[in-house]
Amino acid sequence: MCGIVGYIGDKEVQPILLAGLKRLEYRGYDSSGIAVILPKKNNIGIRKSPGKISVLEKLVKNKPLGGTVGIAHTRWATHGAPTQVNAHPHHDCSGQIAIVHNGIIENYESLKAQLIEEGHAFAGQTDTEVIAHLIEKFYKNIPLEEAVAKALKLLTGSFAIGVVAAREPDKLVGARLGSPLIVGVGKGENFLASDVPAVLGFTKEVVFLDENEIVVLDKDNFKVSNLEGKTIFKETTRINWDIDQAEKSGFDHFMLKEINEQPRILESLINSRIDKETGKIFFKEQNIPETRFKDVKNIFIVACGTAYHAGLVAKYALESVCGISTQIDVSSEFRYRDLLIGPQTLVIAISQSGETADTLAGVREAKRRGSSVISICNVLGSTLTRESDGIIYTHAGPEIGVASTKAYTAQLAALYLFAFYLAQIRDVLPAAKIKKLLDELRKVPKYQVEILKLQKSIATLARRHSHLGSFLYLGRNVNYPSALEGALKLKEISYIPAEGYAAGEMKHGPIALIDEYRAVVCIAPSSKVYEKMVSNIQEIRSRKGRIIAIATEGDKEIKELTREVIYVPKIDEIFSPLLVVLPLQLLAYHIAVKRGCDVDQPRNLAKSVTVE
Ligand code: AGP
Repeated sequence: MCGIVGYIGDKEVQPILLAGLKRLEYRGYDSSGIAVILPKKNNIGIRKSPGKISVLEKLVKNKPLGGTVGIAHTRWATHGAPTQVNAHPHHDCSGQIAIVHNGIIENYESLKAQLIEEGHAFAGQTDTEVIAHLIEKFYKNIPLEEAVAKALKLLTGSFAIGVVAAREPDKLVGARLGSPLIVGVGKGENFLASDVPAVLGFTKEVVFLDENEIVVLDKDNFKVSNLEGKTIFKETTRINWDIDQAEKSGFDHFMLKEINEQPRILESLINSRIDKETGKIFFKEQNIPETRFKDVKNIFIVACGTAYHAGLVAKYALESVCGISTQIDVSSEFRYRDLLIGPQTLVIAISQSGETADTLAGVREAKRRGSSVISICNVLGSTLTRESDGIIYTHAGPEIGVASTKAYTAQLAALYLFAFYLAQIRDVLPAAKIKKLLDELRKVPKYQVEILKLQKSIATLARRHSHLGSFLYLGRNVNYPSALEGALKLKEISYIPAEGYAAGEMKHGPIALIDEYRAVVCIAPSSKVYEKMVSNIQEIRSRKGRIIAIATEGDKEIKELTREVIYVPKIDEIFSPLLVVLPLQLLAYHIAVKRGCDVDQPRNLAKSVTVE
């Protein structure tokens, strides 16, 4: 996710753009910039810099840009590290056209090669720059919006863009396909933005653009059309959110917003890794030669916290699907062990931030011992990605809530795909079996949408148990990690002691804890270990434990054992962690809210543990 802002009116545009960017900082903050049409010079001035928006503020304070029309961007890098040259806005060869973009252009490499052949000179490594040069190519004796439309028709992927051109200084053009874009309708001024917060300080009247729509703004009017130039009438909506709510898209907390983003993120992540023609899995950015993967004799996963739980699920998938012996350890232990790893070991490092000190140290140790390292990471250009041999990005967008939710399920989906990718290149599974697995994985986003429809009832159930002083989470096999993750979610945002356990361990100690003052969350979707989970639930029931079960739709047996059941759709058990975690996230969220905790910034915690 990135943030786009545009303005056209009579006021000095620089402060308006900066104020808008700061309201969108939650969408991305690794670099930012502004472009302003300089009326006296009939040119465009650009100021941009890596780092947070505060760095840009200092830059433009020292070197201001005077003008009343401009665009701005705060970046969450997807292609091209967060550097000066890769920061937006980008411009064409002449510097007379500037553009900001949110999204991913999937066919940028082929377009870039063709444009270079035609004589265009590129400054950076981003996909966005291609759009600026395409517009330049078509912008001959036709209005800017027509040149933009011609360029956009050549793109595959997702985009929301803002464009200005010195030749038409009283015009601001925007367009969207797959990434959000709104028009802020003012009096004698108009705005373009990725999201409502950027304009809410100036106007409450907005127009939400739909797919394949292009808008031309001047300071008094806006005109929306499709890419063929056919005018489209658009309703104006009056926003009644306050700014704080608007940054969370109307949700009370970033964590709840991010829980609800999961289906969309998984849909995009899964579909962008499977070749539409061949059905084969591919990872463009992973750049480890396939031969290397064929030689791998064992795998070692290294991660912390929630990322470690994702790695535990991956261990089950890698062993059952690829037949590769897989070990895993938390990074803080891995880094100090006498590791029996070497050139035939593939180390998988999992980290949302890519900055976790122990995981970085583990990766350095693994490389020192000659192992190849592939990282599953959400932050492009982070330290981990620069120190790994290969990278698989989760593209989950910035995760603001300290408690990891969307990054976790994105990690899981990436790890499943990677396991199937290894099976595919090591030829250990027939193509038909891989296709069957992928078809099942593709169902996850819509099943998650079904689960999210239960939020009200899950919230009610959570509140019923929010007074309890301790929780136990039980799961088996591929949902033993789900039990650990559910317990971590609860403890880190509600501060209630919560333990995750392999359910088969109950008789080895935890059963002593069971009484009517403790809730036991039993993760029991249909699986080969379902009956074992039922036995555990019966043991807990006979000791008056308060049972909250997560089960598969249609399961009547579980209803006999407890009234507190949250159902998830039926899915191949290997993928059940992608479904059962949503009730666990929501349970933790609503208990913490009920207890008045600071859900997004829990006490004592940081989003990224960059020290030991
Ligand atoms: C998870 O909710 C926590 N915020 C924490 O355990 C986190 O998963 C851990 O610190 C790892 O962070 P990373 O993924 O950025 O490396």
